[in-house]
Amino acid sequence: MDQVAEVREKIDIVSLIQEFVPLKKTGSNFKANCPFHNEKSPSFVVSPERQIWHCFGCQKGGDAFTFVMEYEHIEFPEALRMLAQRAGVQLAQYKFDTGVASKKEQIYKLNHLASEFYHFLLTQHPVGKHALIYLIEERKIKPQTINTYMLGFAPKIGNTLTQYLVDKKKYPKESLLEAGLATQYYGRIADFFRGRLMFPLYDHRGNTIGFSGRVLDPKVEPKYINTSETLAYHKGSVFFGLNSAKEAIKKENRAIIMEGEFDVISSFQEGITNCVAIKGTALTEEQVTLINRFAQKISLCFDEDSAGQEAVKRSLPILEKKGLSVTVIVPPDGKDADEAIKHNPIAFKLAVKHDMPIYDFLFEKTLARINPKTIDGKKKIAEHLLPVIADIQNEIVKEHYLQKLSRELSTSRESLVAEIEKLKKKEVIRREDIVEKKPQSREALLEEYLAALLVQHENPKVILSEVETMLSHYEFKTPAYQKIIEKLRIFSTNNPKFDPKQFFTSLPPELVPAFDVSFLYPIPKFKDEGHYKEEVKKKASDLYKMYLTHKIENLGKEIMEKEKDGMSDQENTLRLEQDRLIGLLPKI
Ligand code: CTP
Ligand code: MN
Repeated sequence: MDQVAEVREKIDIVSLIQEFVPLKKTGSNFKANCPFHNEKSPSFVVSPERQIWHCFGCQKGGDAFTFVMEYEHIEFPEALRMLAQRAGVQLAQYKFDTGVASKKEQIYKLNHLASEFYHFLLTQHPVGKHALIYLIEERKIKPQTINTYMLGFAPKIGNTLTQYLVDKKKYPKESLLEAGLATQYYGRIADFFRGRLMFPLYDHRGNTIGFSGRVLDPKVEPKYINTSETLAYHKGSVFFGLNSAKEAIKKENRAIIMEGEFDVISSFQEGITNCVAIKGTALTEEQVTLINRFAQKISLCFDEDSAGQEAVKRSLPILEKKGLSVTVIVPPDGKDADEAIKHNPIAFKLAVKHDMPIYDFLFEKTLARINPKTIDGKKKIAEHLLPVIADIQNEIVKEHYLQKLSRELSTSRESLVAEIEKLKKKEVIRREDIVEKKPQSREALLEEYLAALLVQHENPKVILSEVETMLSHYEFKTPAYQKIIEKLRIFSTNNPKFDPKQFFTSLPPELVPAFDVSFLYPIPKFKDEGHYKEEVKKKASDLYKMYLTHKIENLGKEIMEKEKDGMSDQENTLRLEQDRLIGLLPKI
């Protein structure tokens, strides 16, 4: 535990987070758009003083450890290791052999061993000779590239991997099953990959998370199989090749997203080193978030076929939402990137250089397919392009394409805007609204704000005395705030000179998260003390009013019930109570 504290002590949370998210200083804190949910104005706050972070949009928060765990999708031990290395702290033997974290580690390790084994069979062993010849002669992959990507071969016959890992290296069979390297076959354990060229899959930190395997015999289906879902491998949250490409992607601020393994490998071999592959599936939001950490610009390089075109269109909303700049690379001669490169590397490089903005690409494709002169054609083109234009986040870009469409269809801009309005009505629940924010009641939000005003004041004692009576009657929806305010009252009475640090250390641990939120909550700058006080009084009174109104309404309902049942005695008592509460309602 000491070492955890030592690492925490040595890490500065601001410079740590700054490496992943651009932070802006505001007052004594730093702010950014939250990396954990979609937002357009920053509600992610980092406090250098408290060495914590909190997002007021998605309510996530914590310290340096929780930040990297959340950001990198890793468990505590890995986060500790990462931060210890950064802080230059040598970790003594830390127990990794419990729980989920160690299982993941175990899978990485087994996969790594398997990748070395497959690589050996491909490059050194007679059993892999035909695969090596296929790679070098048919696919034109150089030995150097085979090493870079640690390509391998899984033999068709026998259970070579299982024998190697279980019999020779003494790993338990269960571990192989957990890693997805083996399956149960009539009660016996068997290799999962057979007779395939092996591509290790790495996460961006270089952990071997799984494999994809391509057949050598063209008669066998399916052409590719992947490791099934394991603790370490989730389809749709990784890219093939990111680990090798990330430095180039960062340097160029551009990532080229391709369809398959060979597209990426062939590009790499030709010196186009900033490519990754989604492996034939749809681009997911998780992948976009991941790639966005390395580059602002994305170029989609999918097959020329209609599936490729559909993939471009489907990827667009996710990319647009993240504010990425998106272009399309069209591989020449209607081929996939790998074939295009082999056919004519120079032409392919030119295509990479002359990537076109995605909207231009979609215009071109649609207009080539549908005749913009006929009424039917105009309608169809608009149906294709208007939803895309409506989703453009930047107003200037949006206007540009509206005008372009109006020209292409020889129709007024107004009629297009009117159609967009109709579309919007149809799609009332926008995707974004579904993803965003847990709903919080108005009371809960006000409480959060009021607690922040009280906690962040230099002299809580004075400010509390202004609202003491009101607060003493109010029942908080979030009890933690009630407790914090009560502790604040006692503490500031006993300590005439208020020191937030001292106060914080006096709090029981269960109140710390709520305190952190109040402490970081962005409050406005007030002109003077008077305005500050006014705001506190106003908010406390709003809350109190809501609380009383709610009670009065409930009493009203009860009175009606009693009336119905003819219980006039009780009805009178309730009426008196109701009158009393009405009398308490603040005048402001
Ligand atoms: N893919 C997959 N499973 C399949 C087929 C394809 O995972 N059954 C993935 C592979 O990553 C593949 C990509 O989708 O590279 C694109 O598929 P396709 O165009 O059919 O294959 P190619 O990339 O052309 O494969 P190759 O060049 O090896 O023939
Ligand atoms: Mn191909």
